[in-house]
Amino acid sequence: MTIKEGDSLPDVEIFDGEPGKKIKVTELFKGKKGILIAVPGAFTPGCSQKHLPSYVKKYDDITAKGVEVIACISVNDPFVMASWGKDQNVGDKIHMLADPEGKFTKAMGLELAANPVLGNARSKRYSAIVDDGVITKLNVEPDGTGTTCSLSDEILKSL
Ligand code: BEZ
Repeated sequence: MTIKEGDSLPDVEIFDGEPGKKIKVTELFKGKKGILIAVPGAFTPGCSQKHLPSYVKKYDDITAKGVEVIACISVNDPFVMASWGKDQNVGDKIHMLADPEGKFTKAMGLELAANPVLGNARSKRYSAIVDDGVITKLNVEPDGTGTTCSLSDEILKSL
């Protein structure tokens, strides 16, 4: 079943920025207003050229609206996510979350059949506003990979 607005984030462990740091996504957003973005894959063109950079660029506008935590998740390993974060100069602005086995993505019901190009099931591209662990706005790309409603300018309209 696909997660929807009003639902709580699944209580699933992921890696936060490095292989040694395993946390639950729910812990990251506990008691905070945040944004979670999900991408089909680190270093893919849409994710590297449009989706993630749109949040780095608009970081000041987003935090000015009271957002305390921004995280980007992908079905990739934590080494790749850490390297992608450096490549994108996210600094300490965006938590780079790795969901290597796709457990969080599956629990969200937002898997993308990306096997032919990326080798395995990945995540649909989406952006969500999360308030103390509850999803209050969810913008999932209609085709799973496009870069329209999931970009920062769209989510800013809902903050
Ligand atoms: C992308 O550019 O975001 C992308 C490329 C291949 C598969 C899925 C997404």
